[in-house]
This record gives sequence, C-alpha cells and structure tokens, in this order.
Amino acid sequence: MTGLKSKQAAASAIVADMTLEEKARFCSGEDFWHLESLERHGIPAAQVCDGPHGLRKQIGHADHLGMNESAPATCFPTACALASSWDVALLEEIGAALGEECRAENVTVLLGPGVNIKRHPCCGRNFEYFSEDPLLTGKLAAALINGVQSKNVGTSLKHFAANNQEYGRMYIDAIVDERTLREIYLRGFEIAIRESQPWTLMSAYNRVNGTFCSEHGWLLNKVLRDEWGFEGLVLTDWGAMNDRVAGVRHGLDLEMPGGDPGNDQRVLHAVQNGDLAETDLDRIVQRTIALGLLGADLERTEDSADLTAHHALAHRAACESAVLLKNDGDALPLAAEQHIAVIGAFAKHPRYQGAGSSQVNPVRLDNAWDAIHSLVHHEPVYAAGYDPKTSALDDGLIDEAVCAADGAQVAVVFAGLPGIYESEGFDREHMELPQQQQNLITAVSRANPNTIVVLCNGAPVAMPWVDAPQAILEAYLPGQAGGGAIADVLFGHANPGGKLAETFPRTREDTASDANFPGHERQVLYREGLFVGYRYFDSASLPVLFPFGHGLSYTTFAYADARLAADDQSVSITITNIGSVAGSEVVQLYVHALASPVYKPEQELKAFQKVFLEPGEQCTLTLKLEAQDFAYYDIGHARWINPGGDFELRIGASSRDIRATVAVKQTPSATPSAAATAPQPVPGPMDDETFTALLNKPIPTPEPVRPFHLNSSLEEVGSTWLGARIKPRVMAIVLGDGSMHDGDETLDKMFEQMASTMPVRSLITFSGGSISHRQVDMLLALLNHQYLRAFRLWLSGRQRLSSSAVVD
Ligand code: BGC
Repeated sequence: MTGLKSKQAAASAIVADMTLEEKARFCSGEDFWHLESLERHGIPAAQVCDGPHGLRKQIGHADHLGMNESAPATCFPTACALASSWDVALLEEIGAALGEECRAENVTVLLGPGVNIKRHPCCGRNFEYFSEDPLLTGKLAAALINGVQSKNVGTSLKHFAANNQEYGRMYIDAIVDERTLREIYLRGFEIAIRESQPWTLMSAYNRVNGTFCSEHGWLLNKVLRDEWGFEGLVLTDWGAMNDRVAGVRHGLDLEMPGGDPGNDQRVLHAVQNGDLAETDLDRIVQRTIALGLLGADLERTEDSADLTAHHALAHRAACESAVLLKNDGDALPLAAEQHIAVIGAFAKHPRYQGAGSSQVNPVRLDNAWDAIHSLVHHEPVYAAGYDPKTSALDDGLIDEAVCAADGAQVAVVFAGLPGIYESEGFDREHMELPQQQQNLITAVSRANPNTIVVLCNGAPVAMPWVDAPQAILEAYLPGQAGGGAIADVLFGHANPGGKLAETFPRTREDTASDANFPGHERQVLYREGLFVGYRYFDSASLPVLFPFGHGLSYTTFAYADARLAADDQSVSITITNIGSVAGSEVVQLYVHALASPVYKPEQELKAFQKVFLEPGEQCTLTLKLEAQDFAYYDIGHARWINPGGDFELRIGASSRDIRATVAVKQTPSATPSAAATAPQPVPGPMDDETFTALLNKPIPTPEPVRPFHLNSSLEEVGSTWLGARIKPRVMAIVLGDGSMHDGDETLDKMFEQMASTMPVRSLITFSGGSISHRQVDMLLALLNHQYLRAFRLWLSGRQRLSSSAVVD
C-alpha cells in the first residue's frame, strides 16, 4: 500500500484523539507552504512547493506568483515542451529526478503537474499544460506522477477542473456540457488518477456550471472519488476557497494557503451549531493527517540530489522535445565548417521558462550562443536583432542583423515570445510574434536564403513569414539546458525527437473556441463542445499551419504491415528507419467512426508509442485498444457507451500524415439515449438551440455584476466612484511596494492583471492580515449603498477592538 491509503488507519486513530478545535485548525494550512503540525502525534508541518518542471522552494518571503527568491533547483523543460516528446518513459525519469530534489529539500508534495486542456492557443498558462488532447495529457501526467511518487514524495494534479484561461480565473463560470467535460476536460485527470493515484489534487479557482470547484460535490465526491476511485487529498488552489463549510461538506479537504483562521472558525461554529456533521469534518481531517504522516516519514531521511545528472537529463529532454517544423532542402543539420551568423537576443539571453507560480531558480543556465561557439570551426558572428525583454521596433538592430547574415553561409535566427507576452495571470491577445521579430525574420531571410529560425515560446505563434526561412525548429520553453540542446539539434549531434502536442492554427480566429474566449459577463460558454484542437480542424477540414502530431526528423521512417490482432483489441505495425542516422518516431493511432448515431469528431487519438531506431533497424509495435476507445459518454444513460458499428483505425506520423488504415467492427454495448442522439452540432461554435440541446438545459443567465458581493472583482468594484478610490490602495496592500520584482515588466503586468480580476474575498487571504472579513463586508455594504449596515459593521469593529476580540 502506498500514498495516503498506507496511513489511513494511523490517521483515523489520531483523529479519534483530536479535539474539535484541533480538527477545525486542520481545515487549512499552517502558513503559505506548510500543513498544520500536531506535535503530540509526531506530525511535523509538512511542506508543499510549486513546480512542476522544477522545485520552487521559497527561502524568504512567500508568494504564489513566482516573485520571491527560491532555492536553486533543476529547471527542466516546461510542460508544453515535455509534452512534445510524447515519451512516457522520459517523463517518468524526470518525475523521479524531481522527487529526488524534493527529498533533498524535505518537500512532501510537489504542486503539479497541470493537466488543463489547451482549449485556446492564447491561454496565458498553456506553457504549463501538456496538450489539447486528453489521452496524451493523461498518459504524460501519470508518468510524471509515478516518477515523483516512486521517491515517496507526493504530487498535486491541478487545476481541477475546466481552468482553461487566465482571464477572470478566480470567478469565471465555465459552462460546459457533461459529455464534453467527461470526454475532453476531465478525461486527462481521470487517466492520470487511474494510472498513478496522485497523493493530492488541487481544485481550480473557477466555477464549473455555476458552482465553485472548491465546493463542487459532483466533481469532488461523485466523479473524482466515487467513480474514479481517487484515494488522495483535495486541496484548494491558493486562495480558491469560496464557502469553507460547503467545501467540507462536498469533499474539499485542505484550504491553502493557511494563516487566516477565519474559515477554520466558521467550520468550528458550523459543527457546534449542528450545521455540519462532525463525521464530515473527521473525513477531511483524516486525509490531512495522513499526508502529515507521510511528511513525517520524509523528515526522517537525509537525501541529496545529483544536480549534474539532472542537468544532463534536462538536456536530453530538451532534445527529445524539440520539434522540427520545417526543413526545406535538408537545411538542417548544419555543418561545423559553415560560416554561421547567430542572430537574435534569445541566443544569449534564453527564454527558457514561463512567469508565475511555476518559475524555478535554475541551478545553471546554458545559452545557445556559447554552445554553438564550442561546436563550430569558424568564429560565428552575432547580432542581437531585438531587445529580449520588449522586442520594441528598432530598425537599427535589423540593419545590423542583415549585415551579419549577408556575410555568412547560414543565418540562425533565435526568435519567440518575450516573457511579457505570455504568463500566468493573463492571456495573450493575439498569436503574433513581436513585430520587430517578424520584420527581423523577413529581412534576414531575404538577405540570406539559407536562414534557419529557432523558436522559444510557450504556445503556438502565427507565422505569416513561414515561407521565408528554410527551416524552423520549435524548441518551446526548453529549461536550463535548452541552449546546449538546441545547438546539439542544429548540428545533428541529436536528432529532434519532438512532435506537436497541439495544433498550430493559422490564426486565433480559426479556432472553434475563439468567439467564446475568454467569455464575458463572468461566464464562458464552451460552445464548441468536443471540437477542441485537431478534433475541430480535422472535422471542419480546415487548413492549419502545422497539424497535431507533426514533427520532422533527420531520418526517414517507413510504415508497413499494419494488422489487427484476432481479438480486435490491438494493432501491430512495422516501422523501419530507412535513413542514414539514428532517430525516434512517434507512431500515432487515431480512431475514426465511419457512421455514428451520436456526433463525433472526425478522428481521435487513442494510442501512441515512441520508438528509437538505429539506421536500418526495424521494429514491430503493438498498439493496444480498449472498448472505451470506441465509446462516448452518454448523458442519458450516465455512462460510457460503445455505439458499435464500423470504425477505421488510422496509424500515422501525425494527425494529417496517416500511413496505414485498418477496419474494425464493434458490437454496441447499449442503444444510445435520446439525449445523446438529439444534438448533432456541425464543427464550430454552436448556436443557442444546439448548445441548449447539448447542455440538456437552458443556457444559464450570467451572474449580474451588481449588487457587489464577495466574489466581485476589484476591477468591477473599481468601476464605481468609491471603488475607483479604494482600488489603488487595496492593490498596494496586496501587491506590496513592487520593490521585490525590481521593475520586471512581466511581473508588473501579471500582478496588475491578477489583482484586478481577484475577487474581493481573496483580499483577506493575500493581504497578510492587513484586511479583515469585517472590513471587506463594510466595503461591500458601502458600495451597495447599504449605509446603515456599513455603520453597524464599523461600530462592531470598534466594540470588538475595545473588548480585543480575536476573530474579526
Ligand atoms: C497557481 C497554482 C500554484 C499556486 C501556489 C496559484 O496561483 O494557480 O498552480 O500551485 O498558486 O503557488
């Protein structure tokens, strides 16, 4: 027995010995990063820390925004890059390395991985998520979790659920039909839970179909625990707790961060008044105690981590994740004898991870310029081409770059998104690279027909300039060893091993969710249903810039002998490396229904495998399928149903490069319900009538902005005369004086946006005790013109002050 389950019996005995007050205290953490301790039972204040592509253990002031200093740790490639490796074994290996670093720092739980689906390419946090596809997401997450947990360190699968945008993330209501939820947005969580049992799961900030995730009984108890058999603890995202008593009732175990006793007191009173059953409280406290006991085990060990080996692993992972998007005339790999111009400030100042809570303080940081320098025979020339932070328009820098490119045999342009373009806390407005970089790529490609573009960004970018360069290498945000890895790939010391885990659309407007992203009036309607990513582009036969699953290699693979096994449950295929260098191939299997009684995307990924082959080497792979792979979620029957009929299994090198097909027949497991067969949406955003049919209920009316309440945002409150005067003062309290982030524009933008879309209830959590519940209530009363109520609250505060009451 592993994980929390292994401590259940001991935890239950401890809970039986705890007072009601102690149990209430365990409803939240002790401080920003620690759980409560209980000395008389040997339970220390176990520590949880961000990640997930490295450990962010803060060493001074605490924050959940990546602002304050943290201990050096290996910064592996971020999730967007790792996902492109499609390599479950690699993810498990990285997980184990992360687990070792957690042990060395005495960290009980690493807060990740994030498995939210990339509903739209402009979600600011896409760099922290794996894919637009739930199968790939779930498999990679399970591998990472198994790796971390093999070291007896926990993980936190996040953010549960439908947290697919940054705008309004703390209050937005995601309206999603149940079938789409089950098949797209919950499926990655489900796979990860069934295959790895993370010790904890983090509930998201937002609401799903009207209810906050932190008090969502259907999500937390019915789906997560009863149906999927989750055995771990559910904690809130930092500041996501809405109604703590409802949270206890509906399966939310631990509120984070800790430090404000207000909600613990509410739980205590609710039990004392008979509003909450003590057994409900016992159930959640038991899980926190079990986690504390796992933390105690960790405290008894003294481990160290091999950071040199982890750097080498980060390097290998970056090579395995690099996606060769285009390689006309075999422009890559480069030869060491060539005269090379290295252009673009990212070559010397790498963009290697994203901003926000996942930001790691790397142990070391390689850059591509130094690495290239060490590989070539002739001194390369360099031109910055743009400012790495702003990429503001500057023709002088372009002229310098053109001059450098002109005299070289090859020009390698490093481009991508500066940090200010994508971060936790805000979404991108468009998919373009900064105009300066676009001008640079065009001008350099004109000056030197042998131009290679290397991209570092956390999410797809539009490429109106795509035809200009000979080759494009997508390195994503490749972590601390990215610079060396990119150089190795450019010069053929490593074969790029990545394939896109997401579609690169031509424009954001091509995406089916675009008209409803990021929503409006505190609500976002998922009108595109199942048509997310390639599921939409392939169903609508829409051209894309680069399809899901695409990635070139320096070698060529032949596919032959696709065969269905006698049991109809697996397909075998023989892959041969017919090129002259070693390399890896990601073989993908998509299922296409020839006719279906319910609506279905054109094709869906149902299996994949990565193989590494020497030149001339051959191997026969077996891709396994289950009945579930032909099923859909039937809301009428409330279960997965295989509708039966004829299917085509498509085996390919990408979603649009199918090399073999096999026909298979399925026997129906039940007759589809009327609720499932009625809506037949065409690919794209649905009209009201179809969306209503899919929801199986009317589209909910968005919550009105007024009267203001605890979940009104500072932005909304700031639209009034009084609010406009109060907002800057409140922001100053929550954000501090800004000196900690030292004029970093990305952080400034992130804080500004996060704070203004923060619900006023969170002010209490994030003001560090400077703003009380009573003050927030008083503010709301004033804003709603309830002057008598405001006066009473003010008076009660004065009376409490004179009688020195503890809870405000
Ligand atoms: C993020 C989480 C993170 C937490 C703690 C939140 O803002 O959404 O992913 O784990 O902060 O830093």
